[in-house]
Amino acid sequence: MKKALAAAFVLVWACAVSVHAQSQAVTAPAMGAVQSQNINEVKPEASQDSGYAQQSNGERMKVQPGNNAPMWRQVGAGVTGYSSLPNPEAGNLIQPFVQYPGSRLTNGGEAWRQVRNQWLIPYGGSLLLIVLGAIALFYWRKGTMRLHGQPTGRMIERFTAFERSAHWANAIAFCVLAVSGLVIAFGKFLLEPVLGGTLFGWLAYALKNAHNFAGPMFAVSLVIVFATFVRDNLPAKGDLNWLLKGGGLLSGHEIKSGRFNAGEKVVFWGGVFLLGLIVVASGLVMDKLIPGLLYERSTMQIAHMVHAVATLLMMLMFMGHIYLGTIGMEGAYQGMKTGYVDETWAKEHHELWYDDIKAGRIPAQRDKTAPARPTVQA
Ligand code: HEM
Repeated sequence: MKKALAAAFVLVWACAVSVHAQSQAVTAPAMGAVQSQNINEVKPEASQDSGYAQQSNGERMKVQPGNNAPMWRQVGAGVTGYSSLPNPEAGNLIQPFVQYPGSRLTNGGEAWRQVRNQWLIPYGGSLLLIVLGAIALFYWRKGTMRLHGQPTGRMIERFTAFERSAHWANAIAFCVLAVSGLVIAFGKFLLEPVLGGTLFGWLAYALKNAHNFAGPMFAVSLVIVFATFVRDNLPAKGDLNWLLKGGGLLSGHEIKSGRFNAGEKVVFWGGVFLLGLIVVASGLVMDKLIPGLLYERSTMQIAHMVHAVATLLMMLMFMGHIYLGTIGMEGAYQGMKTGYVDETWAKEHHELWYDDIKAGRIPAQRDKTAPARPTVQA
């Protein structure tokens, strides 16, 4: 969108400056007639024309399509033109100098471009691939974490229908956002060479709109997920021990935990709460949905960089979460799909929670409208 905005802006500005500067009317080529051309191949060489150096941008476009040197010369000389940018930036084509983290001291647009293309894209992309590779390696060496004991057939309600609806609404929105976001960020480098400009253009356009729609759905469902699961994610005795021993993931002896273990709590507070807050807030800024904010180009550039870093970290965290929630751990996905886990699963993975249920401190069945099924007795 920024590219389209910038292109439209340059076009409008170029036309306006040339009209402003010319004493005689020059007819600009109709939009549909614009063609790309290698200016070095236009014969005879247009620079031989008399008055070449004095040509307006409109005149230059006729003899050397795509050569905007006269316009840029005027920009450099401080000629005031018309821009479609909102105040207070109207008429200000080039942003003031700034140094964003990782960029040189240069004008805002270029500084943002440097951060995006020299840091976010190469290092962000590499980090995603490294973590994906590490998860694949772990799965290859360790395989699915299986139950040690036999299932008893006695089922414990792990998630109510409401909890599952909130979770899946959020997870679906997250997946749409992740896929569309990755195409927006990396598609030009990875997909466009394969698909070609037209197909990639349509794909990026469709996914950019999907991203804008899924964003608010993610924000709302995130608030509901937070409110639904916050109580059982509060820090508890034993969490530190769990973290220090890595949950027993490598030793094979899982450390006892309550309904959610310390690893899940880290994902909850770091991924859902903190990164969720940053991702949603910066996304809403880019959607221009925060009232009273001055939407300058620098606002968008900063929001974009914050959004990119936070979403990247969030994706890294949730890659681990999705792995354990699907192929990484037997029975976990079943719990989030049906709402129920076997007694053996509860005992092996969340023993303190299981003990509370056995002792009657937590009901084995919270949703009173659900059909009765064999469960553990307090
Ligand atoms: C395709 C994507 C996802 C899959 C397959 C998935 C799978 C699961 C599963 C199986 C559980 C149950 C774990 C257990 O019983 O302990 C779970 C819990 C949970 N998930 Fe997801 N999930 C996904 C995406 C997300 C996203 C995007 C979020 C939030 C941004 C999220 C937040 C949670 C929360 C808060 C819990 C409760 C446990 C906790 O508080 O950590 N999930 N998920």
